[in-house]
Amino acid sequence: MAIKLNHTIVHSKDKKAAANFFAGLFGLPKPKPFYGFLDVEVANEVTLAFLDADGMQIQMQHYAFLVSEEEFDQIFGRIQQRKLKYWADPGQRQEGEINRHFGGRGVYFEDPSGHLLEIITKPYGSE
Ligand SMILES: [Fe+2]
Repeated sequence: MAIKLNHTIVHSKDKKAAANFFAGLFGLPKPKPFYGFLDVEVANEVTLAFLDADGMQIQMQHYAFLVSEEEFDQIFGRIQQRKLKYWADPGQRQEGEINRHFGGRGVYFEDPSGHLLEIITKPYGSE
């Protein structure tokens, strides 16, 4: 199978704020302008193309990222430094906690447009 997710558009209240938030929090290179988008690429060659919603109502999306234990420490450290709210669950009930699913760590938080981001150190369903 050769099919790979290549890019997705992340509709944002402010694409610059959103792209910088994402790249900065995840320790990724600066967003690159591409036509009307601000692109940030992750390690498996998927590009998140941030785009201004331009008055369109933003439908909340969920983006989950598999990270190493070391990256989790770094990203979660920045979440705490910036005093962002975070939750152990996608329903956002367990505030200020992380989860330990599948023998790893996971946490949910919001981007500036209200998209629900998640970092996990073990893929869902792993032992
Ligand atoms: Fe998820």
